Amino acid sequence: MNVYDTRKMADVLAGLGYEPVETPEGADMMILNTCHIREKATDKVFSELGRLREHKIAKEKAGGKMIMAVAGCVAQAEGDFILKRAPDVDLVFGPGSYHELPEMILKAGGERVVNTDFPVEDKFDALPGQHKSQGPAAFLSVQEGCDKFCTFCVVPYTRGAEYSRPVQAVLDEAKMMVDGGTKEITLLGQNVNAYHGENDKGQTTSLGALIALLADINGLERIRYTTSHPKDMDEELIDAHGSIHKLMPYLHLPVQAGSDKVLKAMNRKHTAESYLDIISALRKVRPDIAMSSDFIVGFPGESEEDFEATMEVVRKVEYQSAYSFKYSARPGTPAANMAGLVREDIKAERLERLQKLINEQQLAFNRKTVGLTLPVLFERKGKNDGQLQARTPYNQSINVPANERLLGEIVGVKVTEAFGNSLAGEVVTEEMTLKSA
Ligand code: 5AD
Ligand code: SF4
Repeated sequence: MNVYDTRKMADVLAGLGYEPVETPEGADMMILNTCHIREKATDKVFSELGRLREHKIAKEKAGGKMIMAVAGCVAQAEGDFILKRAPDVDLVFGPGSYHELPEMILKAGGERVVNTDFPVEDKFDALPGQHKSQGPAAFLSVQEGCDKFCTFCVVPYTRGAEYSRPVQAVLDEAKMMVDGGTKEITLLGQNVNAYHGENDKGQTTSLGALIALLADINGLERIRYTTSHPKDMDEELIDAHGSIHKLMPYLHLPVQAGSDKVLKAMNRKHTAESYLDIISALRKVRPDIAMSSDFIVGFPGESEEDFEATMEVVRKVEYQSAYSFKYSARPGTPAANMAGLVREDIKAERLERLQKLINEQQLAFNRKTVGLTLPVLFERKGKNDGQLQARTPYNQSINVPANERLLGEIVGVKVTEAFGNSLAGEVVTEEMTLKSA
């Protein structure tokens, strides 16, 4: 989401004559786009600001000026406190207001500015469209905010209430992206499958229906969406995984924990069983679907037995990948006041066990794809010369020796080797296809 937001900010600023530079030295403006999801991310903001102010001081010494801005969810949550703690910051603005950047910059020339408004409905209308090429695989925001209020999470407070963009606005932006050469679109939203945008007739449209409309766009080859909530995996969306071949066989569906007691305390509104049932239903319509998830260990009150229930869910699902975190108390969230704090060393030990299991599953998943020929989308140059980096339908990263002219193309690649986080493969030529046929 922050990658997408940063890009949008760059688009707004392009209208004022700004363009992105590779290093902060000598820049006219620096924007630190921040994340508030866990304490670690928030802490980084202030150490990073300390580092970045050197560039501002250097520029001022040389007689120039540099606007220093803090954007994103830490800006939203901490607002004035950032101005107090970081005296060099000129401008603080939350995720609801980056379309107002031109006015804010003008103001920031004379005074220090804080903008933490939530005019979400105007935001997308006021943002410039995607005129430049976004690359072969790009994000498209369709939904923002969250009404779920999981007790550990700051998102409903920093990103505000759920809002879905109108269907036509999404389709128009997708078409523009495809015209610019994009072949794969990942639909974005904090709670993307709660999407309920209106179509031109004023009817509410679900994410499953939106995906079906997007699938009709010529030249758009692959569709993904993230992040989803189990409670919003409706039948239409599950069925879409079986019937829409452009919808990739990969789904990031966070479960957070495997114990129903913990899930209840988290206000997740689902049980371990209902989560597993959804995955069974998905695998019925799309047997090869690869699953991914988020986990939190050490939520207040989590016992060893509760944690074991999380491990059990992982064993049952067999993930393609997963992200796991130690619970981090966030200011203003209900869980921050809950009893039963789990000791730091216990959290660390549980996280290690969980990550070991997840890593084993990821490697096993990757190994299972060795020998298969998969259509991969070449997204960028690889780390080594003569190599390109691509993504398989299962969202695996694959390095392939290939000519640069294949960038942006979807090509059959035979998987030759599997590692923990990536694959190696080779382009299948027609000759090879004939031989193996
Ligand atoms: N502590 C730890 N992890 C968290 N996440 C969200 N809030 C917290 C928190 N307070 C994790 C969840 C979520 C992911 C984006 O970050 O797993 O799905
Ligand atoms: Fe946070 Fe996701 Fe829960 Fe919303 S559904 S409160 S974004 S964890």
